[in-house]
Amino acid sequence: MVIKGEISLSGDKSISHRSLMISALSQGVSRISNLSKGDDLISTYNCLESCGINLKRDDEDVVINGGKFVNPDLPLDCGNSGTTVRLLMGLLVGQGISATFTGDRSLLKRPMLRIIKPLELMGAKIEHNDGRLPIKINSKKLKGINYSSTIASAQIKSSILLAGLGSTSSIFYTEPFKSRDHTEKMLKNMGANISTQGLITTLKPLTKPLKSIQIKIPGDPSSAAFFAGAAALIPGSRIRINNVLNNPTRNAFFLVLKEMGVEINYLNKKIIQGENVVDLEVYFGKLNSLKIKKRNVPNIIDEIPILAILATQAYGSTVIEGAEELRYKECDRIHAICSNLKKMNANILERDDGFIIEGPTELSGARVNTFGDHRIAMAFSIAGLISKESVILDNQDCVSISSPNFFQKLKKVTK
Ligand code: S3P
Repeated sequence: MVIKGEISLSGDKSISHRSLMISALSQGVSRISNLSKGDDLISTYNCLESCGINLKRDDEDVVINGGKFVNPDLPLDCGNSGTTVRLLMGLLVGQGISATFTGDRSLLKRPMLRIIKPLELMGAKIEHNDGRLPIKINSKKLKGINYSSTIASAQIKSSILLAGLGSTSSIFYTEPFKSRDHTEKMLKNMGANISTQGLITTLKPLTKPLKSIQIKIPGDPSSAAFFAGAAALIPGSRIRINNVLNNPTRNAFFLVLKEMGVEINYLNKKIIQGENVVDLEVYFGKLNSLKIKKRNVPNIIDEIPILAILATQAYGSTVIEGAEELRYKECDRIHAICSNLKKMNANILERDDGFIIEGPTELSGARVNTFGDHRIAMAFSIAGLISKESVILDNQDCVSISSPNFFQKLKKVTK
């Protein structure tokens, strides 16, 4: 069996959330093409609609008539989506909205103090359940803030910046390491006075409404990673993935793959709405191990599950450190990776902030506990392509959080 052929993927999940939320605030009609098809986007779409925003599906596009938000009648159900709750809370609190946020079992467990604290410093009035959902925000005028986060997180940064769109004075936000910068890029494109120097982002209060956007969202590099990973693992494989986002804060997985010994061609480079886009060609490669350090983690955070599968086939020890944030994702991903790879006979040592994998080892089959996490399900489906016996996932449906067509696409390129 080999991985061969050509695919395109639905739009990047991070840019999709931001394009819905920010165009909801802008003046005029925005049109968004190739929105992520993941369930997380349905959560954002529904929450915005509950806040009085007029959104319509038009064929494959979403058309948004930006305008004024209203207080929702019912709690906003953010489903499984950390990006929905954290970004939308910032946006709505800045617009003086009162609302309650809730979510599914996984989201109810995720830490929210990281955004509650800075939003409170800006003047927000927030009731919460010991730093967890459900959370109620109460209408209050916000002021700006000069804030240094100890966590490199685009969700925290974006929440504060989106709140700043309604504040009376400027935001100065410093992050410890650079995290994804889609919010900054999009706000700039839409007319906000925002600039970044090194690790400090400055946003001045809006003097005029944001302009609407027409955007075709590039393919999601975090989804592309699973297909690229499959090709890199299986001898004789070659896959072409068209129109993939190649933002420097998101492309670390592909740089790492190259460093591990995989041939990657970057074809047809272009810039769409300030974002770099490429067609990627990825070949099978004999893999070498490497080390991921804390400063590199934000740019590969969502790809670490598939990187772990690749590491089991790489020569030497792959060390992932400074990745404690993985414990606070849709599940505790360090535990999910380590416990499942141990079942498959991999040589893996769990650490508080990551793990060490000695390779290569032949993987055996196993019943995999996905913990309902889409990226764990997809990573272990790829592990199942190279394992001696079958991999059986306890939950396949959770892939729909980011990639409802994952299994069809994988079937299409498996020859
Ligand atoms: C995201 C940021 C990352 C990432 C998540 C999406 C975003 O989370 O893991 O899947 O769209 O801003 P953190 O900012 O919490 O690291």
